[in-house]
Amino acid sequence: MKKSWLASLAVVLIMAIALSPGAAKQGPSKDLDTLRAKIRSAFGADLPPLPVPPNNPQTPDKVRLGEALFFDPNLSKCGTIACASCHVPELGFSDEQQISDGCGGATGRRNSNTVYNTAYLSHMFWDGRVQTLEEQALGPVVDPAEMANTWDNVIAYLNTGIQPVSKKESPEAKKFYQQYFQSVFGGEISSTTVTKAIASYERTAVSFDSPYDRWVKGDDNALTAEQKKGLTVFFGRGNCAACHVPPNFTDSDFHNSGVSNAGFETPEKFAHNGEICGGIPKDVDPGRGEVGFFRSSCSDLGKFKTPTLRNVELSMPYMHNGKFATLGKALSHYEELAKGKIKPVVGALDPKLAKGIIQLGAGGGSVDDLKNIVEFLKALTGIQIESPPAGVAPPALK
Ligand code: HEC
Ligand code: HEC
Repeated sequence: MKKSWLASLAVVLIMAIALSPGAAKQGPSKDLDTLRAKIRSAFGADLPPLPVPPNNPQTPDKVRLGEALFFDPNLSKCGTIACASCHVPELGFSDEQQISDGCGGATGRRNSNTVYNTAYLSHMFWDGRVQTLEEQALGPVVDPAEMANTWDNVIAYLNTGIQPVSKKESPEAKKFYQQYFQSVFGGEISSTTVTKAIASYERTAVSFDSPYDRWVKGDDNALTAEQKKGLTVFFGRGNCAACHVPPNFTDSDFHNSGVSNAGFETPEKFAHNGEICGGIPKDVDPGRGEVGFFRSSCSDLGKFKTPTLRNVELSMPYMHNGKFATLGKALSHYEELAKGKIKPVVGALDPKLAKGIIQLGAGGGSVDDLKNIVEFLKALTGIQIESPPAGVAPPALK
């Protein structure tokens, strides 16, 4: 009798513990621990070692030289536009413009990508048309919508310190470049050495140690309650991590997410390996489908590279056309896709985004989903963990 009374008391006590607010708190935090273990085993808790091409090893002087070149507006024809004009370190190595201004106010057609963590990418640009940072850096110097220069002009300037168009002279720049091209490349000043140095500098733009990284490593307090909820949706029913794959929050692949580009001049027909794809509205950016022969097919029209989400808070506006001014607006786009309210103008929506997979906002999830994901995305703002070594300061250039 006494025994069974004690037994029932024990059962009541156990139930009381299980139902107490303290224990209720243990439920979600246990789920979070399980999710963290899964994230750690699938994606690791660190960035992989920095990929560096064997023919362009990182050296302190080369990085220093690349930094000077990246910030030097005299590499442009107009003498006012540097790489850093559109890739501002404080603005997430991007800029605040929807479409950046190049020399003389010329404009391109896409939003400036971040340079952060591009060292890890297998494709550059929104359409992935080049593979390496070295190859990428050749383009902007001669792009009429960017620096609008010629390589001959650039090399003449680096040799003499005289900007060939404005005729402005910088003895400090001449001295700096002579010294550094000598020590790094035995004096060779060419498009090859310039782009190698710039690429080495860009490889120091590595963002890590964000609140998210600290949480993955075990610091429970690194994320706020909202960020933890946002993380759960991001890796769970939001299906975001299917494309924004840690640790760099990109799969380096191309997807159609229904972001169309009004006002874009598109050729009416594209040819791919003999296949003609027609029917593309005039104002739509063909994206990956434009990179052409043997590298893409008609089904790639309307696809764009999954951008990294590291430091995304800093690099507004968003998407290949900078269509959305805020993260909240970018996420509303996903919500509308989930509800079937918008459809791609060209091609078919990526199956990973198709209705029923994303259940955001009122579409099945909590109305706070979008707000919580935005908070989580802010937890991807990290610290630049590699940096140009101290040494001779590059010349101050105007
Ligand atoms: C006038 C603005 C402008 C200037 C100047 C400029 N860029 Fe860019 N950059 C862009 C835009 C816009 C894109 C995206 C273009 C696209 O995808 O078609 C881009 C893309 C890139 C990318 C690809 C990143 C990724 O995630 O794929 C890198 C790297 C880059 N630029 C480096 C440079 C370097 C190096 C210079 C100087 C030599 C430079 N940029 C000059 C606007 C600019
Ligand atoms: C099918 C792959 C895929 C999925 C799933 C996906 N994204 Fe994206 N995301 C992309 C692509 C591709 C772009 C660029 C689209 C464009 O510019 O046309 C992008 C762009 C973004 C951007 C803008 C970044 C910038 O720098 O401009 C944000 C923010 C973003 N996604 C967050 C999310 C969130 C949050 C989720 C989950 C709700 C998600 N994405 C799900 C592929 C995906």
